[in-house]
Amino acid sequence: MTSIFVLHGPNLNLLGKREPDWYGNKTLAEIDQMLIEEGKKLELEVRTSQSNSEGVLIDLLQESAQWAQGVIFNPGGYTHTSIALRDTITAIQIPVIEVHLSNVYAREDFRHRSTISAVCRGKIVGFGWRSYWLAIHALAGIIQENNKTR
Ligand code: DQA
Repeated sequence: MTSIFVLHGPNLNLLGKREPDWYGNKTLAEIDQMLIEEGKKLELEVRTSQSNSEGVLIDLLQESAQWAQGVIFNPGGYTHTSIALRDTITAIQIPVIEVHLSNVYAREDFRHRSTISAVCRGKIVGFGWRSYWLAIHALAGIIQENNKTR
């Protein structure tokens, strides 16, 4: 069975209550459940996790390279600051898709910069919970192609 990892960064545990105009009304548990269901249709095992800590996110990404064929990652505020997360993504050598619920380009200038975009396979922003939906479909296709060329 093909497995993928969905990792959410800081403050995303507050989804549903946090700035709904930017992030929508769905809770993180609802988004994770949607991804698990979508994964079943795409024949993907989906494991999910969230942490507010940069070091824990790094540990989880490193470990995922042992069992996952790809990652969907929303690094939250660390998107704009973390060289260490960028280094981890480079190191693990499995496809990582960067995801954001809000359209970061319609927001403050500091959100326009991402330390990780250049080392991710691709990036989806601005579609609310549907950013994750789009990402799982993109990742399923990428993994299928990778498996064919192996
Ligand atoms: C976010 C955008 C970030 O700028 C912000 O710090 C978040 C959420 C998003 O999903 O839109 O925490 O990653």
